[in-house]
Amino acid sequence: MRLTVIGTGYLGAVHAACMADIGHDVLGVDVDTEKIDALAEGRTPFYEPGLDDVLTRALASGRLRFTTSLREAAAHGEVHFVCVGTPQQAGSQAADLRYVDAVVDGLAPHLPASCLVVGKSTVPVGTTGRLTARIAGLAPAGVRAEVAWNPEFLREGFAVEDTLRPDRLVVGVTSREADATLRQVYAPMLEAGVPYISTDPSTAELVKVAANSFLATKISFINAMAEVCDAAGADVVTLADALGHDTRIGRRFLNAGLGFGGGCLPKDIRAFTARAQELGVGAAVAFLDQVDEINQRQRARTVALARQAVGGDLTGRRVTVLGATFKPNSDDVRDSPALAVAAALHREGADVRVHDPEGSANARRAHPELRCTDDLLTACQGAELLLHLTEWSQYREVDPVKLSRVVREPVLIDGRNALAHEEWRAAGWTVEALGRPAPADQPQTGLPHEALRTTIAAPAAGPDRS
Ligand code: UDX
Repeated sequence: MRLTVIGTGYLGAVHAACMADIGHDVLGVDVDTEKIDALAEGRTPFYEPGLDDVLTRALASGRLRFTTSLREAAAHGEVHFVCVGTPQQAGSQAADLRYVDAVVDGLAPHLPASCLVVGKSTVPVGTTGRLTARIAGLAPAGVRAEVAWNPEFLREGFAVEDTLRPDRLVVGVTSREADATLRQVYAPMLEAGVPYISTDPSTAELVKVAANSFLATKISFINAMAEVCDAAGADVVTLADALGHDTRIGRRFLNAGLGFGGGCLPKDIRAFTARAQELGVGAAVAFLDQVDEINQRQRARTVALARQAVGGDLTGRRVTVLGATFKPNSDDVRDSPALAVAAALHREGADVRVHDPEGSANARRAHPELRCTDDLLTACQGAELLLHLTEWSQYREVDPVKLSRVVREPVLIDGRNALAHEEWRAAGWTVEALGRPAPADQPQTGLPHEALRTTIAAPAAGPDRS
């Protein structure tokens, strides 16, 4: 089938390459010439495991091309996928839909024949209906463009796998023809047994924000339990393990620590709250404000723990932050909890070094005041405190004995509860973590809740990739 993928950011680049990989004739479209040129040469503008291979294969097959022209896109596509970003509006919680609207406005007048426009971006419920009317007003006489919604659930770091082997496909359509077209697009996945849920557009739009709200709530739930554990001297990791054995709850997304960040979860729960308020049902999702608040509080609690670990004053103290990206296997630093903490430590006067295997260039751009490097030993040299804030697998492979010879003081805060604390303690380290009691021979955390409400400014917003 002839497909276009409009918007070749994170979501679009992966979708375009994967659709070509399963046999479609794909035209990727973006307003950014540099991005288009890079992709056409097989270079991905961001770090995503496995994407380079799929892109190279798709380009070599001749089934993937790129353009900046929406006119060319209109001529090419039987199905047009809209994959542009829907960032948070400046000064508001709501989603900014200007890029989605611009795609429709640029495409509709050039459509040569009836076709299907499929939104993949995360949007406020009701967007499909609004865009249907917008396209109808702009398309040439006699041309009917149906709009459908097919939300994308891919995770950074697993984007290729999630696109080729998704947990489920959800499509929101208004006609049988649109449903049949989308079944044809995704035929290889359907043959492989991927569950396919065909519904109305509003339900499809809601599935995405509901899924992200649920995931965010699960993380904030366990982080709230971590706060209770700190007050009660209990252990949140054992608590999560025990909860996770209940198959109704499940262990995934119960990793307590610094909380969630990135370009999706934080902005999506805020946009959902804003949309629910518009619909007059703000009270139904008011709990998401708490989810957001609990999440932000973990950053402040981590800074407080750092302050306490160096004796109450961070001024002039050499601190090393391990991890800058919002999660491992990504170079994305948008709303990164790790960087927010690093910046807050810097504001309190600490001499901060940040290490990240893939994100140090992006981290430097977002926070030029921080010293970021991709060399671990350089970053740790002379440190009085180490904070492990993004759980890259290579940090689990570090030898704590060797590292203790490089730092000035062997003190570690594990902000992701992902390191082997016993091993580090055996190597002479003092180890602290949110929601974990310290052993009797180590000072107890005993973090008093109210004293930890330090305000941390939100980190600089980066380009939207979802
Ligand atoms: C998320 C959704 O998972 C995905 O379905 C959607 O399409 C886009 O948003 P992503 O932003 O790639 O994907 O990251 P995800 O793996 O969900 O992690 C989000 C954040 O939550 C990260 O900062 C991660 O460190 C944090 N997290 C995750 C926790 O703090 N604890 C956990 O147990 C899991």
